[in-house]
Amino acid sequence: GDGGSKKVLVAAHADAAAFYAERLAAPDAQVAREFLAARGFDREAAARYQCGFAPDSWDALTRHLRTKGYDAKDLITAGLVREARSGNLIDRFRGRLMWPIRDLSGDVIGFGARKLLDSDDGPKYLNTPETPIYKKSHVLYGIDQAKREIAKQGKVVIVEGYTDVMACHLAGVPTAVATCGTSFGDDHIGVLRRLLMDSDEFRGEIIFTFDGDAAGQKAALRAFADDLKFVAHTSVAIGPDNMDPCELRLAKGDAAVRDLVADSEPLIDFALRSVLSRYDLDTAEGQAFALRSAAPMVAAIKEEYLRPRYVQKLAGHIGIEVEEARRAVNDALRAGG
Ligand code: CTP
Ligand code: MN
Ligand code: MN
Ligand code: MN
Ligand code: MN
Repeated sequence: GDGGSKKVLVAAHADAAAFYAERLAAPDAQVAREFLAARGFDREAAARYQCGFAPDSWDALTRHLRTKGYDAKDLITAGLVREARSGNLIDRFRGRLMWPIRDLSGDVIGFGARKLLDSDDGPKYLNTPETPIYKKSHVLYGIDQAKREIAKQGKVVIVEGYTDVMACHLAGVPTAVATCGTSFGDDHIGVLRRLLMDSDEFRGEIIFTFDGDAAGQKAALRAFADDLKFVAHTSVAIGPDNMDPCELRLAKGDAAVRDLVADSEPLIDFALRSVLSRYDLDTAEGQAFALRSAAPMVAAIKEEYLRPRYVQKLAGHIGIEVEEARRAVNDALRAGG
């Protein structure tokens, strides 16, 4: 081989994806097929995303790819194979349901792998490690299938997981993509920028759908902190009863998933509500404390022309005069330099 050039790494991933997908039909993949069916994914859906099964064997993929002529070193660089303590080469993913992760152009660059039995070893999800072709801070699962609609609608829906991307697309939300085990950050914006920029201006709308659980809400607020530049373009859709889009589709159907996204709440309102929920807004004292903690959030918004509107929202959420909210935000602006 030629020392793990990106071309070789991508070719190995294409072959690995085909191998795993073929193995999904084998008798030992019964649990994987049942998992997909239980999540509402039929064979056609599984095929569309090239879902696969990594057999519960030490080196089934390693042997397959070695037979095809790949260098062991290249397969290790690709993250598909690793060296066990014994020195033997073994498959990284074993006994797991596999999702090929593709880049914008559709090349497979990595995998997401879910364990199938709670009793299995290891974390619920395993991902490809950082490699020359897999940079996890840039990866958006589903981007190859969603990019056209993202550009056309000027909108992207960020979900947490592989199953959530599949569920959204099948439910009629074709703009969904998922971060893969990391939080949404500037590198993801960089990937989307090309699809959502109009000349020099970011014109896209970003909708986050997180689990309604505490972790999901925290992720939404973190996105707020990281992402103040885009606050005007960002909204949040939190599922009812802690459901993620995959669970929502199973429980309530496709229309419920579409409604979830359509009814998303502007990030500023979501963030203000989250902060203000800690205070008793029925008392003057509670209102004063709430104002003091929420005013800096509004002051931090970089899009200055929007601030008057957000001052109004702040006043509305707390139940005070706009003038009082404006004073507090101006104070926070001075304090923040
Ligand atoms: N994830 C990942 N890598 C990790 C952890 C999580 O890619 N190391 C992704 C998975 O796609 C997962 C999603 O983040 O679906 C959200 O994680 P979690 O909420 O814990 O998953 P669940 O929705 O409970 O997972 P599942 O639906 O598979 O049971
Ligand atoms: Mn979660
Ligand atoms: Mn969970
Ligand atoms: Mn889920
Ligand atoms: Mn989830």
